[in-house]
Amino acid sequence: MSYLITDYVHQFVTSHIQNGSICVDATAGNGNDTVFLCEHAGMDGKVFAFDIQEAAIENTKKRVKESGYQNAEIIFDSHVNMKKYLEEKSVDCILFNFGYLPGGNHAIATKASTSIEAIKEGLDCLKKDGIMGLCIYSGKDSGFEEKEAILNYLKQIDSKKYLVLVTEYYNRVNHPPIPAFIIRLK
Ligand SMILES: C[S@@+](CC[C@H](N)C(=O)[O-])C[C@H]1O[C@@H](n2cnc3c(N)ncnc32)[C@H](O)[C@@H]1O
Repeated sequence: MSYLITDYVHQFVTSHIQNGSICVDATAGNGNDTVFLCEHAGMDGKVFAFDIQEAAIENTKKRVKESGYQNAEIIFDSHVNMKKYLEEKSVDCILFNFGYLPGGNHAIATKASTSIEAIKEGLDCLKKDGIMGLCIYSGKDSGFEEKEAILNYLKQIDSKKYLVLVTEYYNRVNHPPIPAFIIRLK
């Protein structure tokens, strides 16, 4: 059993995805989340994966090809534009794994303002009972601004429309990552 933030988020969202699901990897990176979503969305489903770095797009295309999935569309565009590709209330699961590309350029990282804009776009795209999983980092190269801004925004989301869960690695030191989830209630 792995308690890494990415594995924990995968375990939590799995029950919301089935064959035929529409899913979004909002930060494709090296393609780990894309491949996870491809597996669970199945032959009848579809995964839209976004990134703004060519290296990430190439790495994700390679991962998906090597894994043998044909249900992914890998898009070289910012996640703030996801509504150009997706209909409102059509998506079962959206994953955000913030920060920089592991093994890549740490200077090209997600930013508070665009991350929050993209979360808002994503919330419009979620269908009822759809889920958004967020891996939020801070400290080191990530700094604290994005984490604080995202947590502040999550607190303000309309509780009649969405359930927001923010979890913690409570007894860990040195700014542990924060797994969070948003579920559309209606
Ligand atoms: C931590 S990595 C994602 C890891 C990835 N999910 C995986 O499974 O390997 C964060 C990624 O977000 C991307 N990113 C940064 N700003 C973005 C934006 N506005 N739209 C889409 N992707 C963005 C970075 O280029 C980087 O590849």
